[in-house]
Amino acid sequence: MSHRGHAAVLIVACTGLLNACTSSPTPTDADVIVIGSGIAGLSAALEANSQGAGVLIIETSSVAGGHAVKAGGFALVGTPLQERKGLKDTPNIAYDDMMAWGEDPDPDWVRLFVDNSRSEIHDWLAGFGIQFTILLDTPEDTVPRFHFAGGAAVNVIIPMLREAAHRDNLDFVMNAEAVNLALNKAGIYNVQSRNTRTGALRSYTAPAIVIATGGFQSNLELVRQNFHPRNSRHGTAPEHLLIGSGKYAAGTGIRLGQASGAQLMRMDRQVTFINGLPDPQDPEHGLHVENPAAIRINAKGKRFVNESAHSKAIESAVMSLDQRMHWLVFDDRGRKKFRIRGAVWLNRNTIASEILNNPDIVHKADTIAALATAAGLNADSLQATLDRYNRFVANGEDEDFARFGPLSGQSQPAGKSVTSPPFYAVRLLPMTRKSMGGLAIDINTQVIGQNNQPIDGLFAAGEATGVAGINGSHGGSGTFLAPSVLTGRIAGRNSAASARHAGTITPAFNHTNEQPLITTAANPEVPLMTSAEVSGLLKHERAGYWHWERSHTIVIERALACTDCHSPDWPTKPATTLHQQLLKLETCRQCH
Ligand SMILES: Cc1cc2nc3c(=O)[nH]c(=O)nc-3n(C[C@H](O)[C@H](O)[C@H](O)COP(=O)(O)OP(=O)(O)OC[C@H]3O[C@@H](n4cnc5c(N)ncnc54)[C@H](O)[C@@H]3O)c2cc1C
Ligand code: HEC
Ligand code: HEC
Repeated sequence: MSHRGHAAVLIVACTGLLNACTSSPTPTDADVIVIGSGIAGLSAALEANSQGAGVLIIETSSVAGGHAVKAGGFALVGTPLQERKGLKDTPNIAYDDMMAWGEDPDPDWVRLFVDNSRSEIHDWLAGFGIQFTILLDTPEDTVPRFHFAGGAAVNVIIPMLREAAHRDNLDFVMNAEAVNLALNKAGIYNVQSRNTRTGALRSYTAPAIVIATGGFQSNLELVRQNFHPRNSRHGTAPEHLLIGSGKYAAGTGIRLGQASGAQLMRMDRQVTFINGLPDPQDPEHGLHVENPAAIRINAKGKRFVNESAHSKAIESAVMSLDQRMHWLVFDDRGRKKFRIRGAVWLNRNTIASEILNNPDIVHKADTIAALATAAGLNADSLQATLDRYNRFVANGEDEDFARFGPLSGQSQPAGKSVTSPPFYAVRLLPMTRKSMGGLAIDINTQVIGQNNQPIDGLFAAGEATGVAGINGSHGGSGTFLAPSVLTGRIAGRNSAASARHAGTITPAFNHTNEQPLITTAANPEVPLMTSAEVSGLLKHERAGYWHWERSHTIVIERALACTDCHSPDWPTKPATTLHQQLLKLETCRQCH
């Protein structure tokens, strides 16, 4: 991984205006620099490297993987798993489904995606030992195509990271935030990065760049500026908007691209979830709540939607409410169906103690009147709503919203009445999630400039591009991860070709990383730090240690032994050797 060499770049240095140009080779740090190590960046880096390019990944966090570490499934078309289940899925069926659900997706990208999903995504990932074993049915797919690799996307990311760790001429610079991107006269890009721990600035050069920095959903200012008019009552975004994406989804890649003249596209297409609950450990952030046993009510204490409708219908009903907030109301029996996710610290015990029995977060009372008072709702109205709903349940027909009964058009039973105390009311807020717009790219993933022409050597992939507009106006299931792989691979291939075109591609590069992630030098043995020392360090936030702090807070909470993960082979130090890096990867699944 850390082979040193020199990528000879033919630089045409011009001393005069039209004459006196001399050629001399200048070393660059890599053939291709990939900014961001999420699933799109990893796909781009692996692919460019397979094409012979020396690749450097620049990542602001101390861990790789991005959102995929928290995410779930992949939309895949015509897979062996579908075949085994006797399901016939074809690119044409998938094309029609995606065009209908998204309403205005980019048709060329949807076509490319459905046609290549099997070979470019499924089969390629299978080559790293990744197997898709679970298939879920979703309302937007006429054939089930939401695939899971044994649970979650972390099972895809870890084999990809393992593969990357083993590759020659593919290296990572971690804790390095790309802060500036500039093109010099010789057609070489200069990526300026800031070490997130020391603040030190450093430049890395390459003739081709892939921006794979993810979406902008943690940047509330950008989210609000671009809120879709459909969801902007009186022209404004909701007052309370929780953040439902990762710490580093700040949209920095958009700024980097713009500095190089990039156009943006579809910025107002954003997936905003309506079922966010403030994370008590991090109140700006939202946890994701569901309860199929609950009724949904508005600020007036009235039901307003068929709770069993598909997400698109419920979202649009909530988005037309005041402040776009609503409440889930359920009883003791319905408590069993309460589901919440979105943070590693959540488990059966903490859900009881920190969520359901936490009066700051969830209102709970023995009578409807007391519940209404606690939740700030009108008691008469709430009582009337529940009486009416319970009567519908007894009669087997929801006369107001056809959740069940003859008008529902479905044979689903009425479910349970809401009559067993204690009663619960949970106020839900809108929560940012995924970007469906970003840097404008062409069908080769090349970034499009203000003059509508592709910019030489500049590529982008994944959510930084809004996954190429494949979702149109409504996010589908698995249609972020899978297209991130596809756009990543295309960007990897074309950036490598572009570097070759520039006459620079060599199977080795001059890697002058200050702190190479992987070196062949063994680390001197270091004694293990104690948990008391860790607790001491956790008292104050340190810049660049976000993931270390979050993960080791869990270590302390769960009273894990340091040796559950660390050993003389990987002491309590950053992992630097290949061996240590692989040991570190073995620990991710303990939390993710
Ligand atoms: C909780 C959750 C669940 C989801 N579930 C699903 C699902 O089931 N199916 C699905 O298809 N999609 C899902 N998504 C969406 C999907 O996870 C993302 O769209 C996808 O992972 C995006 O990948 P990416 O590589 O483009 O970006 P990211 O994963 O965001 O990676 C970007 C990387 O770039 C780094 N970075 C950012 N800025 C800089 C900078 N300036 N310099 C250096 N590095 C930088 C970041 O730290 C990060 O590592 C989910 C999203 C969330 C939040
Ligand atoms: C001891 C627990 C623990 C371990 C081990 C761990 N993490 Fe984490 N990780 C966390 C916590 C806590 C967060 C904060 C966000 C949350 O609670 O979901 C987090 C967040 C992340 C994120 C950011 C996701 C986002 O919000 O965008 C990434 C990426 C990540 N971890 C990758 C890894 C990788 C890769 C490994 C293995 C090398 C790993 N983690 C090991 C606990 C852990
Ligand atoms: C469940 C697995 C796990 C356990 C248990 C664990 N660690 Fe870690 N440790 C990790 C991971 C993963 C990283 C890398 C985190 C990152 O880079 O963000 C890490 C990194 C570190 C680092 C390097 C931080 C740096 O400078 O980048 C130190 C120091 C450390 N751990 C100390 C400890 C101590 C002390 C204990 C016992 C109290 C402990 N760890 C227990 C998984 C674990």
